[in-house]
Amino acid sequence: MMYEEVLRADRALVEDYLRHCFAGRESRADLYDAMLYSLLAGGKRLRPVLTLETCRMCGGDVNTALPFACAVEMVHTYSLIHDDLPCMDDDDLRRGRPTNHKVYGEATAVLAGDALLTAAFETIAEHGTALSAKRALEAAACLGRAAGARGMVGGQALDMAGEGHSLALSEVEELQRLKTGALISAAAEIGCIVAGGGEQERKAVRQYAQLLGLAFQIRDDMLDVNGDEAKLGKPVGSDAANEKVTFVSLKGIEESEKLVCEKTEAAKETLRNTFEDTGFLCWLADKLVKREK
Ligand code: IPE
Ligand code: IPE
Ligand code: MG
Ligand code: MG
Ligand code: MG
Repeated sequence: MMYEEVLRADRALVEDYLRHCFAGRESRADLYDAMLYSLLAGGKRLRPVLTLETCRMCGGDVNTALPFACAVEMVHTYSLIHDDLPCMDDDDLRRGRPTNHKVYGEATAVLAGDALLTAAFETIAEHGTALSAKRALEAAACLGRAAGARGMVGGQALDMAGEGHSLALSEVEELQRLKTGALISAAAEIGCIVAGGGEQERKAVRQYAQLLGLAFQIRDDMLDVNGDEAKLGKPVGSDAANEKVTFVSLKGIEESEKLVCEKTEAAKETLRNTFEDTGFLCWLADKLVKREK
């Protein structure tokens, strides 16, 4: 399958570049070990693939987008390390391995997350030089907005505050738009920024990725109920244990399944209305509908 090969090639680029970013770095403490333990643990690399492929779709060079794509993955990996901490979701398994704090202790896990977040912006500043300074800064601003209080961290705060409370569907949607949608949306938009896409293109890419992100998080919530821990590489039942309100707890599995399909169709439609060559990104959206991990 042609698109499977594209996906494999993109992932290989990302793996190599992430390794390259930290090659030869050492610390007397086990900070780099902890960072690389989670970073190179075989995530799906959805976000960096989105950056690379929206860049390609908008006529840009995938290699120019690579440092930006890897910066997004660094932010994402940091968010997972912190999300698993005892003070947050308190989970023991991630990407098929014991969670970072289980291996390195809580203090080092917090610091590994901090260092990955910082390294993301360092990577953009140091390796994003193939791009004009204006575009590189726009990409950094986009990532900063999506990662911080107006994006992922803001969503995580709502997620924590909502534990044990009854939330309305609109509140769950808002929370998920921030905690998951914002970074996925930025990943896609950054690819478009790197390629020099205009405002109309950026808007379409953003909308596609927001819908994709919503479908992705609803599926994540479903897998937390009916997934297979061995395939998923993270615990099942974490949301119920933490009394989280999710699409599944509010709407049930069947209704959630329908929502995943609806959001995915809407995502594909948004792209097709603006771009010509949407093959890979539509295929990817469909592939995520059926994901088991
Ligand atoms: C998990 O993200 C956290 C969510 C936002 C649902 P992924 O499912 O993309 O995790 P990895 O990167 O493949 O491990
Ligand atoms: C977390 O959502 C989203 C992040 C910002 C990390 P979840 O808490 O549902 O993610 P998982 O299920 O632990 O991967
Ligand atoms: Mg969480
Ligand atoms: Mg979690
Ligand atoms: Mg989850």
